[in-house]
Order: sequence, then C-alpha cells, then structure tokens
Amino acid sequence: MSLRILGIETSCDETAAAVVEDGSTILSNIIASQVDLHAQYGGVYPELASRAHVEAIVPVVEKSLQQAHIAWQDLDAVAVTYGPGLPGSLLVGLNFAKGAALGRGLPLVPVNHLEGHLYAHWLETGAGGAADGHLAFPLLALIVSGGHTELLLMHAHGKYEYLGGTLDDASGEAFDKVGRLLEVGYPGGPAIEKIAQQGNPRAFDFPRAWLPDTYDFSFSGLKTAVLRTLQHFNGPRPPHFVADMAASFQAAVIEVLAEKTARAAREFNVENVVLSGGVSANTALRRAVRARVSVPVYTPPPVLCTDNGAMIAAAGTYRYQAGIRAGWDLDIEPGLRLA
Ligand code: KG4
Ligand code: ZN
Repeated sequence: MSLRILGIETSCDETAAAVVEDGSTILSNIIASQVDLHAQYGGVYPELASRAHVEAIVPVVEKSLQQAHIAWQDLDAVAVTYGPGLPGSLLVGLNFAKGAALGRGLPLVPVNHLEGHLYAHWLETGAGGAADGHLAFPLLALIVSGGHTELLLMHAHGKYEYLGGTLDDASGEAFDKVGRLLEVGYPGGPAIEKIAQQGNPRAFDFPRAWLPDTYDFSFSGLKTAVLRTLQHFNGPRPPHFVADMAASFQAAVIEVLAEKTARAAREFNVENVVLSGGVSANTALRRAVRARVSVPVYTPPPVLCTDNGAMIAAAGTYRYQAGIRAGWDLDIEPGLRLA
C-alpha cells in the first residue's frame, strides 16, 4: 500500500505544496516564488511575504493535487512546516493545513523546515542521487540557506546532533547582503555565483572567520570587509572589479564552510556528507567540499535545494510512519531547532 502525503511549506518566501509517494517519489512539486516581489527591497519583506502566501496557498495546493492526479481522499496525511521561519508566513501554511486536514479527516504531521531540507536527499530525482539507497548513517549535514548555516550529525532517521552554526548572519543572508552592496541583483546567491565565474577569487584578501576549535561560523565581518573595500576604493574601477569582488567574497565563504565540513567528516568518521538548503545549489561550494572529503557527498538538484513542498512531504512521511501527529492546538515555532 503506498503512502501519499501532501507537504505544505510557507516558512519564508516560497508558497509550496507537493504530493510525495512513500517518502521518495515526487508526484507533484508546485512552488510559487515571491522573488520578484522582494527584489525591490533586496531581501524578504515579512508582511508582504505573509500576504503573498494568503493569495497563493489555495491555488498552489490545488495545482499540486491536479498535477499528481490525486484527490483529497487519496491522501494519507497533510504534512506542514511549523518552524523555523517568519511568523506571519508560517501561520498561513499551518492554518491552511489545519483547515484542510480537519475538513478532510486527515492526520496532520508537523515538520521542522530544517528536517525538510535534509529529507530532500531521500527524494528520487532519477539522477542517481542519494535517494537510490546510497545514504548511510552517521551522515554529516551542512545546511546552508537564507536563514540557516548549521553543521549537524544525523545518526538515524529523526536523530540529530548539533555541531555548530552561525553566530550572526546565515551564509545565504551574507550572499544576499553582499549582492545588494555589489548591485548584482536579487537573490544575491545565484547572481554572485554567476558573476564570480568571470572574477579572480584571489583579487581581494577578504577575512575568514575560523573560530578555531568550534564548528561555528561568522559572516558579518566578511560582509563589513566587502563594504569597507567598496567605500575605500578610489579612482576608476577596473573592468573586472565587481566580478573580482564577487569571486573573492564567494571564495571566503566557501573556504570556511568546506574546511569545517571536511574536518567534521573526519572527526566523526561519517559515511556520507549531504549539502542542503539554497546555498548548496552553489557549484563552487559543492566542488570545494568534494575536493576535501573522501566519503560520498550528496547534493539535491537545485530545485530541491531551495524551499519546496516535496522535502516537507518526504520528512513528513518518516514522521507519519513514526506515529507523530499534531494536535489541533499546534502553534508555529519561529525559532524551532533541530537539535
Ligand atoms: O533554502 P532557501 O530557499 O530558503 C531559506 O530557507 O532560507 O535558501 C535561499 C538562499 C538565498 O539566500 C539565496 O541567495 C541562496 O539561498 N542561494 C545561493 C545560490 N542559490 C540560492 N547562494 C549561493 N549560490 C547559489 N547558487
Ligand atoms: Zn529553507
């Protein structure tokens, strides 16, 4: 008997819904991005994000069922992100999911957004990825997104150990802020990656916050260094100035992420390394980690790196099978942690 779960994700600026079968087969994966809405602010504008979710949630869910050729009565459960994330955004998805589950007599499964990013690795992509049964525990996860930068050990399904995380800006946030400073477009991550291809990563010697003997990160000093360099650069800018800045900034972020990931992989003798979250779409980061790590390194395809409903449905499936259900009094948890 196959298990079909609807996953709903509204923690930040994507309204997303997906139907996933048996925790790995994607029957549909609908994402309404708000990128254009927030581009003018150079970052996510929380109230506008909530209102855009209110507009999009019903059409996005309907489309996810249509595309999966699934009716409500064919579903086994509704899984929904209840944290971490923006409060107003989370409320829209959670309230919708409660209404739908209550109205259709379906169980409601609460999902941690970060756990969703990890379970993106169990989704089948047809590209010979982790979902094809290659993943083994313990695995090391680097979660790098607009809101998070964390290194975690995963010992078993649902069993996590926190190793370290950012003390200030998330890595994606640093990409977005520096993208704004360099005026390369929004979101900054993909824009910087693209322009960095034309730049010299050694042109500017930006600081690396090593925070020795910890698995913690810090990116705010790097962002300030970029700002200072821009402010103090007198005279005409050489033709490759922005590309060199972008490449040097990206190299500084990636070197610290990759070095600490590689050190943790060795220290804890892990079987696999998985990269998750929007920043893991970055090819230079993937390359840097692979160059330093001897065990297999898995990365989902870009559409499953950034926020989506399929990853919530996949995590929701494991939680459903573990008997986890939400009560009707479930509240959002904007600061929810994984471990
Ligand atoms: O996982 P995600 O969609 O949302 C959060 O949960 O935060 O991640 C979005 C973040 C943004 O900060 C974006 O700039 C960054 O991921 N990002 C990238 C790339 N693609 C997206 N950063 C670096 N390189 C990329 N190719
Ligand atoms: Zn995310």
